[in-house]
Amino acid sequence: MGTGRARIAASILDSDLGNLGNAIRRVQAAGADRIHLDVMDAHFVPNLTFGAKTIKALRRRTRLAFDAHLMISEPGRYIDQYLDAGCDSVTIHVEIEEPIEPTLRAIKAAGRAAGLSLRPGTPISALEPYATLLDIVMIMTVEPGFGGQSFMADVLKAKAFAARGVFAHKAYGGEVHVDGGINRESAEFAGAQGVDVVVVGSALFVRGRDMGREVRLIRALVDEGYQYGLNDGIPPIPRDKMVRIAGLPLSFAKRFSRDIEAGGIPVVILRGDGQINPDGVRDYDVLVPATVEADVVSRHAPRRDQLLEEAEAWRRDLIARGEVAPPRPEL
Ligand code: DX5
Ligand code: ZN
Repeated sequence: MGTGRARIAASILDSDLGNLGNAIRRVQAAGADRIHLDVMDAHFVPNLTFGAKTIKALRRRTRLAFDAHLMISEPGRYIDQYLDAGCDSVTIHVEIEEPIEPTLRAIKAAGRAAGLSLRPGTPISALEPYATLLDIVMIMTVEPGFGGQSFMADVLKAKAFAARGVFAHKAYGGEVHVDGGINRESAEFAGAQGVDVVVVGSALFVRGRDMGREVRLIRALVDEGYQYGLNDGIPPIPRDKMVRIAGLPLSFAKRFSRDIEAGGIPVVILRGDGQINPDGVRDYDVLVPATVEADVVSRHAPRRDQLLEEAEAWRRDLIARGEVAPPRPEL
């Protein structure tokens, strides 16, 4: 799993289709962050690959997240099978003729991430009616249907920032994916467009090439593209980095985290090394993703200060009532 900002989703479309389990084992060992599963029905696209049954069989081969990319005309008809197969996210195409909203709602109701993908010729504005239901926008930089095609740089340049705008309603968590033609030549450009997840297929399955080295190289190039193309040369914040924004007694920490999570931002509460309270228990640390630290602090500072004061009053009260316990041993 990577430490940088960019995430690598390995597509197994161009692997040995007679041994998909082995392909998954290989990309996991190579350091891919998740598996990108290209489902094609020979109707929406001129190719036929695999479906929910195959994905279900592959599910027990890895704990990596499964991103299903459904290039099928009737995802609504089969969505339960893909959810049952254990997909962590399901992305359908906005160009399909059947109703889209019910399928997105079904994906979200199952607690998975819902996405929409667009062919190169489809404008980002096509996503507007569904924006509030989306966790993923997948920009196709090849015509969907086959791996190993050439990367369409202009398409990504035209759409990447508008795709970010689709998530304006979200404080955290929306992902822009790029799919098609990503390799060591196109990775840096993709990073400079600010994408979060790059799908990599054929570039990983080049005979005689070290797959692990390719994953590391492509991830480093994407992050470098972001650093110099978008971030004034400042290295990007690692995606999984969490930062401490407060130390509070447990019950106060839980109240604070509920407030923050109500805004759609994940919170982690960890036993810290702060002060030991009169009840013998140390303060807990409240952590949020480093990528949204500034937003959280600006939005929740008054509440934090209020809870810090309440916690202090609680400590004084315990001491005044003589309810002071010896420090509890750290577990
Ligand atoms: C194409 C698929 C892509 C493809 C990517 O329709 O959606 O995910 O497998 O493969 P490369 O990286 O070879 O373009
Ligand atoms: Zn795909």
